Amino acid sequence: MPSYALLTKESANRVYADAAPDLLAAELSAVAEHFSFEVANVGVSSLGGVPYVLFDGDELTNTDQFIASNLSGTRALFAKEGDTLRPLDLQPLEWFDDDLISIQRYSGKTNEQFTHLLLNLTIAASTAARDRAARGDQVTLLDPVAGRGSSMNRGLMYGFDVAGVERNDKDVDQYRNFITTYLKDHRVKHKAETERFRKGELSGSSAFDVDIDRGRQSLRMACGDTAKAKQLMSGQNFDVVVGDLPYGVQHVATGKNVRRSPVELVQDSARAWHSVTAKGGAIGLAWNLLTMSRDDLTVALQSAGFTIVEHPRSFEHVVDRAITRDILVATRS
Ligand SMILES: C[S@@+](CC[C@H](N)C(=O)[O-])C[C@H]1O[C@@H](n2cnc3c(N)ncnc32)[C@H](O)[C@@H]1O
Repeated sequence: MPSYALLTKESANRVYADAAPDLLAAELSAVAEHFSFEVANVGVSSLGGVPYVLFDGDELTNTDQFIASNLSGTRALFAKEGDTLRPLDLQPLEWFDDDLISIQRYSGKTNEQFTHLLLNLTIAASTAARDRAARGDQVTLLDPVAGRGSSMNRGLMYGFDVAGVERNDKDVDQYRNFITTYLKDHRVKHKAETERFRKGELSGSSAFDVDIDRGRQSLRMACGDTAKAKQLMSGQNFDVVVGDLPYGVQHVATGKNVRRSPVELVQDSARAWHSVTAKGGAIGLAWNLLTMSRDDLTVALQSAGFTIVEHPRSFEHVVDRAITRDILVATRS
Protein backbone atom coordinates (compact mmCIF):
# COMPACT_ATOMS: atom_id res chain seq x y z
CA MET A 1 0.00 0.00 0.00
CA PRO A 2 1.56 3.37 -1.02
CA SER A 3 2.53 5.58 1.94
CA TYR A 4 3.00 9.34 2.09
CA ALA A 5 4.63 11.86 4.42
CA LEU A 6 3.69 15.53 4.89
CA LEU A 7 6.29 17.90 6.30
CA THR A 8 4.65 20.73 8.25
CA LYS A 9 5.25 24.41 7.52
CA GLU A 10 7.56 26.39 9.77
CA SER A 11 5.40 28.70 11.87
CA ALA A 12 6.61 32.04 13.18
CA ASN A 13 4.54 31.33 16.31
CA ARG A 14 6.26 28.72 18.51
CA VAL A 15 3.07 27.65 20.30
CA TYR A 16 1.31 27.09 16.98
CA ALA A 17 4.41 25.29 15.65
CA ASP A 18 4.15 22.80 18.53
CA ALA A 19 0.49 22.10 17.74
CA ALA A 20 0.97 22.15 13.93
CA PRO A 21 1.65 18.43 13.24
CA ASP A 22 -1.43 17.30 15.23
CA LEU A 23 -3.57 20.01 13.60
CA LEU A 24 -2.35 18.91 10.15
CA ALA A 25 -3.21 15.28 10.97
CA ALA A 26 -6.67 16.41 12.13
CA GLU A 27 -7.13 18.51 8.96
CA LEU A 28 -6.11 15.61 6.72
CA SER A 29 -8.58 13.30 8.53
CA ALA A 30 -11.34 15.93 8.15
CA VAL A 31 -10.89 16.28 4.37
CA ALA A 32 -10.01 12.60 3.76
CA GLU A 33 -13.48 11.84 2.34
CA HIS A 34 -12.60 13.98 -0.71
CA PHE A 35 -9.60 11.79 -1.66
CA SER A 36 -10.15 9.19 -4.39
CA PHE A 37 -9.15 6.41 -1.98
CA GLU A 38 -9.57 5.59 1.68
CA VAL A 39 -6.94 7.55 3.60
CA ALA A 40 -5.65 5.16 6.28
CA ASN A 41 -3.34 5.21 9.30
CA VAL A 42 -3.09 9.00 9.64
CA GLY A 43 -0.60 9.80 12.39
CA VAL A 44 2.32 11.98 13.46
CA SER A 45 5.78 10.36 13.47
CA SER A 46 9.31 11.59 13.88
CA LEU A 47 11.66 10.88 10.95
CA GLY A 48 15.25 11.89 11.62
CA GLY A 49 14.07 13.96 14.58
CA VAL A 50 11.54 15.97 12.50
CA PRO A 51 7.76 15.44 12.90
CA TYR A 52 5.86 14.35 9.78
CA VAL A 53 2.23 13.47 9.21
CA LEU A 54 2.13 10.02 7.65
CA PHE A 55 -0.73 8.33 5.85
CA ASP A 56 -1.36 5.27 3.70
CA GLY A 57 -3.63 4.82 0.72
CA ASP A 58 -3.42 4.34 -3.01
CA GLU A 59 -1.73 6.10 -5.94
CA LEU A 60 -2.43 9.84 -5.64
CA THR A 61 -4.56 11.26 -8.42
CA ASN A 62 -4.06 14.86 -9.51
CA THR A 63 -7.00 15.90 -7.30
CA ASP A 64 -5.55 14.04 -4.27
CA GLN A 65 -2.21 15.75 -4.80
CA PHE A 66 -3.98 19.11 -5.10
CA ILE A 67 -5.85 18.57 -1.81
CA ALA A 68 -2.68 17.45 0.02
CA SER A 69 -0.77 20.44 -1.40
CA ASN A 70 -3.34 22.93 -0.13
CA LEU A 71 -3.69 21.66 3.43
CA SER A 72 -2.91 24.59 5.71
CA GLY A 73 0.14 22.95 7.26
CA THR A 74 1.73 21.33 4.20
CA ARG A 75 5.31 22.42 3.55
CA ALA A 76 6.28 19.40 1.44
CA LEU A 77 4.73 16.14 0.28
CA PHE A 78 6.69 12.91 -0.12
CA ALA A 79 6.01 9.38 -1.27
CA LYS A 80 7.45 7.22 1.53
CA GLU A 81 9.27 4.24 0.03
CA GLY A 82 10.81 2.27 2.90
CA ASP A 83 13.20 4.67 4.62
CA THR A 84 13.35 6.95 1.57
CA LEU A 85 11.25 10.08 1.04
CA ARG A 86 10.64 10.95 -2.64
CA PRO A 87 9.44 14.56 -3.07
CA LEU A 88 6.20 15.06 -5.01
CA ASP A 89 5.25 18.31 -6.74
CA LEU A 90 3.05 20.66 -4.75
CA GLN A 91 0.16 22.45 -6.46
CA PRO A 92 -0.63 25.40 -4.21
CA LEU A 93 -3.67 27.45 -5.23
CA GLU A 94 -2.22 30.97 -5.31
CA TRP A 95 -3.95 33.72 -7.24
CA PHE A 96 -1.68 36.31 -5.61
CA ASP A 97 1.87 36.44 -4.27
CA ASP A 98 2.22 34.96 -0.80
CA ASP A 99 2.87 38.41 0.70
CA LEU A 100 -0.88 39.10 0.50
CA ILE A 101 -1.16 36.78 3.49
CA SER A 102 2.06 37.63 5.31
CA ILE A 103 2.66 41.41 4.98
CA GLN A 104 0.06 42.65 7.47
CA ARG A 105 1.25 42.54 11.08
CA TYR A 106 -1.01 43.78 13.88
CA SER A 107 -2.09 42.83 17.34
CA GLY A 108 -5.22 40.65 17.19
CA LYS A 109 -4.38 39.13 13.79
CA THR A 110 -5.51 35.53 13.52
CA ASN A 111 -2.57 33.23 12.79
CA GLU A 112 -2.34 32.83 8.99
CA GLN A 113 -1.96 29.09 9.03
CA PHE A 114 -4.88 28.72 11.41
CA THR A 115 -7.05 30.95 9.17
CA HIS A 116 -6.14 28.68 6.25
CA LEU A 117 -7.10 25.59 8.31
CA LEU A 118 -10.46 27.10 9.26
CA LEU A 119 -11.24 27.93 5.63
CA ASN A 120 -10.20 24.48 4.34
CA LEU A 121 -12.47 22.72 6.86
CA THR A 122 -15.38 24.97 5.92
CA ILE A 123 -14.86 24.42 2.18
CA ALA A 124 -14.70 20.66 2.78
CA ALA A 125 -18.16 20.84 4.39
CA SER A 126 -19.70 23.15 1.75
CA THR A 127 -21.30 21.33 -1.17
CA ALA A 128 -22.31 24.79 -2.44
CA ALA A 129 -18.61 25.76 -2.73
CA ARG A 130 -17.53 22.55 -4.38
CA ASP A 131 -20.48 22.56 -6.84
CA ARG A 132 -19.74 26.14 -7.80
CA ALA A 133 -16.02 25.45 -8.25
CA ALA A 134 -16.83 22.38 -10.36
CA ARG A 135 -18.96 24.61 -12.65
CA GLY A 136 -15.99 26.98 -12.97
CA ASP A 137 -17.89 29.72 -11.10
CA GLN A 138 -16.55 31.98 -8.40
CA VAL A 139 -16.89 30.62 -4.84
CA THR A 140 -18.14 33.26 -2.38
CA LEU A 141 -16.79 33.79 1.14
CA LEU A 142 -17.95 35.97 4.04
CA ASP A 143 -16.13 36.63 7.29
CA PRO A 144 -18.80 38.04 9.66
CA VAL A 145 -16.18 39.21 12.23
CA ALA A 146 -13.50 40.18 9.73
CA GLY A 147 -10.99 42.26 11.76
CA ARG A 148 -8.42 43.40 9.22
CA GLY A 149 -9.28 40.76 6.69
CA SER A 150 -7.08 37.71 7.25
CA SER A 151 -9.78 35.26 6.05
CA MET A 152 -10.70 37.56 3.17
CA ASN A 153 -7.06 37.52 2.05
CA ARG A 154 -6.97 33.73 2.20
CA GLY A 155 -10.18 33.66 0.14
CA LEU A 156 -8.66 36.04 -2.44
CA MET A 157 -5.62 33.74 -2.62
CA TYR A 158 -8.00 30.88 -3.54
CA GLY A 159 -9.59 33.01 -6.25
CA PHE A 160 -12.87 33.57 -4.38
CA ASP A 161 -15.16 36.59 -4.27
CA VAL A 162 -14.81 37.75 -0.68
CA ALA A 163 -16.71 39.85 1.83
CA GLY A 164 -16.42 40.84 5.46
CA VAL A 165 -18.36 42.55 8.24
CA GLU A 166 -16.44 44.31 10.99
CA ARG A 167 -17.83 46.72 13.58
CA ASN A 168 -14.53 48.50 14.30
CA ASP A 169 -14.15 51.36 11.78
CA LYS A 170 -10.38 51.58 12.34
CA ASP A 171 -9.96 47.96 11.27
CA VAL A 172 -12.11 48.56 8.20
CA ASP A 173 -10.11 51.68 7.25
CA GLN A 174 -6.82 49.84 7.77
CA TYR A 175 -7.95 46.96 5.60
CA ARG A 176 -9.18 49.25 2.81
CA ASN A 177 -5.80 51.01 2.82
CA PHE A 178 -3.94 47.74 2.89
CA ILE A 179 -5.80 46.00 0.07
CA THR A 180 -5.91 49.00 -2.29
CA THR A 181 -2.19 49.70 -1.71
CA TYR A 182 -1.39 46.02 -2.19
CA LEU A 183 -3.27 45.84 -5.49
CA LYS A 184 -1.64 49.06 -6.70
CA ASP A 185 1.87 47.92 -5.72
CA HIS A 186 1.29 44.59 -7.49
CA ARG A 187 -0.11 46.35 -10.56
CA VAL A 188 -3.48 44.63 -10.35
CA LYS A 189 -6.20 46.75 -11.95
CA HIS A 190 -8.93 47.59 -9.47
CA LYS A 191 -11.71 50.04 -8.73
CA ALA A 192 -12.81 50.89 -5.18
CA GLU A 193 -16.04 52.59 -4.10
CA THR A 194 -17.39 53.52 -0.67
CA GLU A 195 -21.07 53.57 0.26
CA ARG A 196 -22.39 55.27 3.42
CA PHE A 197 -25.79 54.35 4.81
CA ARG A 198 -27.54 57.47 6.13
CA LYS A 199 -31.09 56.23 6.73
CA GLY A 200 -32.96 53.30 8.24
CA GLU A 201 -31.57 50.44 10.30
CA LEU A 202 -28.15 50.64 8.65
CA SER A 203 -27.74 54.31 9.47
CA GLY A 204 -24.15 54.95 10.59
CA SER A 205 -22.83 51.84 8.77
CA SER A 206 -20.76 51.90 5.60
CA ALA A 207 -19.30 49.53 3.07
CA PHE A 208 -16.57 49.57 0.45
CA ASP A 209 -16.46 47.48 -2.71
CA VAL A 210 -13.43 46.64 -4.80
CA ASP A 211 -13.63 45.27 -8.31
CA ILE A 212 -10.40 43.33 -8.89
CA ASP A 213 -8.95 42.92 -12.35
CA ARG A 214 -12.09 43.94 -14.29
CA GLY A 215 -14.54 41.57 -12.64
CA ARG A 216 -12.15 38.67 -12.06
CA GLN A 217 -12.85 38.88 -8.32
CA SER A 218 -14.90 41.10 -6.04
CA LEU A 219 -14.41 42.28 -2.48
CA ARG A 220 -16.92 43.97 -0.17
CA MET A 221 -16.29 44.99 3.40
CA ALA A 222 -19.00 46.51 5.57
CA CYS A 223 -18.48 48.44 8.78
CA GLY A 224 -21.36 47.56 11.08
CA ASP A 225 -22.90 45.00 13.39
CA THR A 226 -22.63 41.39 12.22
CA ALA A 227 -26.23 40.80 13.42
CA LYS A 228 -27.18 42.92 10.34
CA ALA A 229 -24.97 40.92 7.99
CA LYS A 230 -27.84 40.20 5.58
CA GLN A 231 -28.71 43.87 5.09
CA LEU A 232 -25.04 44.95 5.00
CA MET A 233 -24.44 42.39 2.26
CA SER A 234 -27.56 43.50 0.32
CA GLY A 235 -29.12 40.05 0.68
CA GLN A 236 -26.24 38.13 -0.94
CA ASN A 237 -25.63 34.48 0.08
CA PHE A 238 -22.20 32.92 0.62
CA ASP A 239 -20.90 29.40 0.00
CA VAL A 240 -18.49 29.61 2.94
CA VAL A 241 -18.81 31.76 6.06
CA VAL A 242 -15.69 31.76 8.22
CA GLY A 243 -14.83 33.75 11.31
CA ASP A 244 -12.49 33.85 14.26
CA LEU A 245 -14.84 35.05 17.01
CA PRO A 246 -13.77 37.65 19.57
CA TYR A 247 -11.97 35.82 22.34
CA GLY A 248 -13.99 37.53 25.06
CA VAL A 249 -10.87 38.65 26.86
CA GLN A 250 -12.03 42.24 26.26
CA HIS A 251 -15.66 43.32 26.23
CA VAL A 252 -17.44 43.32 22.91
CA ALA A 253 -19.20 46.62 22.31
CA THR A 254 -21.56 47.47 19.45
CA GLY A 255 -22.93 51.00 19.42
CA LYS A 256 -25.56 51.28 22.13
CA ASN A 257 -25.48 47.56 22.86
CA VAL A 258 -22.68 46.13 24.93
CA ARG A 259 -22.44 42.39 24.51
CA ARG A 260 -20.50 41.05 27.45
CA SER A 261 -19.51 37.73 25.99
CA PRO A 262 -18.95 35.90 22.74
CA VAL A 263 -21.97 33.76 23.71
CA GLU A 264 -24.25 36.81 23.48
CA LEU A 265 -22.66 37.80 20.17
CA VAL A 266 -23.33 34.34 18.73
CA GLN A 267 -26.86 34.15 20.15
CA ASP A 268 -27.69 37.56 18.65
CA SER A 269 -26.05 36.87 15.29
CA ALA A 270 -26.47 33.16 14.44
CA ARG A 271 -29.77 33.73 12.61
CA ALA A 272 -28.20 36.48 10.53
CA TRP A 273 -25.27 34.19 9.69
CA HIS A 274 -27.71 31.43 8.70
CA SER A 275 -29.55 33.83 6.41
CA VAL A 276 -26.33 34.76 4.56
CA THR A 277 -25.17 31.14 4.16
CA ALA A 278 -26.18 29.63 0.82
CA LYS A 279 -28.16 26.37 0.77
CA GLY A 280 -25.55 23.61 0.89
CA GLY A 281 -23.08 26.14 2.28
CA ALA A 282 -21.12 25.90 5.52
CA ILE A 283 -20.03 28.08 8.41
CA GLY A 284 -16.71 27.56 10.22
CA LEU A 285 -16.06 29.37 13.49
CA ALA A 286 -13.01 29.50 15.73
CA TRP A 287 -13.39 30.61 19.33
CA ASN A 288 -11.90 30.64 22.80
CA LEU A 289 -13.04 27.63 24.81
CA LEU A 290 -12.23 29.49 28.05
CA THR A 291 -15.00 32.04 27.39
CA MET A 292 -17.60 29.93 25.56
CA SER A 293 -18.29 26.20 25.80
CA ARG A 294 -18.63 24.02 22.72
CA ASP A 295 -22.17 23.23 23.87
CA ASP A 296 -23.18 26.92 23.99
CA LEU A 297 -21.89 27.49 20.47
CA THR A 298 -23.49 24.26 19.23
CA VAL A 299 -26.90 25.17 20.68
CA ALA A 300 -26.77 28.72 19.24
CA LEU A 301 -25.93 27.43 15.75
CA GLN A 302 -28.47 24.60 15.88
CA SER A 303 -31.20 26.99 17.07
CA ALA A 304 -30.49 29.15 14.03
CA GLY A 305 -30.98 26.13 11.74
CA PHE A 306 -27.42 24.88 11.17
CA THR A 307 -26.36 21.20 11.34
CA ILE A 308 -23.11 20.54 13.18
CA VAL A 309 -20.34 18.64 11.35
CA GLU A 310 -18.54 16.02 13.45
CA HIS A 311 -14.80 15.72 12.76
CA PRO A 312 -12.80 12.56 13.42
CA ARG A 313 -10.13 14.44 15.44
CA SER A 314 -10.13 17.47 17.71
CA PHE A 315 -8.77 20.89 16.70
CA GLU A 316 -8.54 22.16 20.26
CA HIS A 317 -5.16 23.77 21.05
CA VAL A 318 -3.69 26.19 23.55
CA VAL A 319 -2.81 29.66 22.19
CA ASP A 320 -1.77 31.29 25.49
CA ARG A 321 -2.83 31.32 29.13
CA ALA A 322 -6.09 33.13 28.36
CA ILE A 323 -6.99 31.38 25.10
CA THR A 324 -7.64 27.73 24.23
CA ARG A 325 -8.92 27.70 20.70
CA ASP A 326 -11.25 25.28 18.95
CA ILE A 327 -13.14 25.04 15.66
CA LEU A 328 -16.79 24.22 14.92
CA VAL A 329 -18.11 23.71 11.40
CA ALA A 330 -21.83 23.52 10.55
CA THR A 331 -23.82 23.27 7.35
CA ARG A 332 -27.01 24.82 6.03
CA SER A 333 -29.33 22.46 4.17
C1 LIG B 1 -10.65 37.65 16.79
S1 LIG B 1 -11.03 39.12 15.94
C2 LIG B 1 -10.89 38.64 14.22
C3 LIG B 1 -9.52 38.91 13.69
C4 LIG B 1 -9.41 38.69 12.21
N1 LIG B 1 -9.56 37.29 11.85
C5 LIG B 1 -8.05 39.18 11.74
O1 LIG B 1 -7.09 38.38 11.62
O2 LIG B 1 -7.91 40.40 11.53
C6 LIG B 1 -12.75 39.30 16.13
C7 LIG B 1 -13.33 40.56 15.50
O3 LIG B 1 -14.73 40.57 15.71
C8 LIG B 1 -15.12 41.93 15.71
N2 LIG B 1 -16.49 42.03 16.25
C9 LIG B 1 -16.90 41.85 17.54
N3 LIG B 1 -18.22 42.05 17.65
C10 LIG B 1 -18.69 42.36 16.40
C11 LIG B 1 -19.98 42.67 15.88
N4 LIG B 1 -21.05 42.71 16.66
N5 LIG B 1 -20.08 42.92 14.56
C12 LIG B 1 -18.98 42.87 13.75
N6 LIG B 1 -17.74 42.61 14.21
C13 LIG B 1 -17.57 42.35 15.51
C14 LIG B 1 -14.06 42.57 16.57
O4 LIG B 1 -14.03 43.97 16.39
C15 LIG B 1 -12.80 41.85 16.09
O5 LIG B 1 -12.17 42.59 15.08
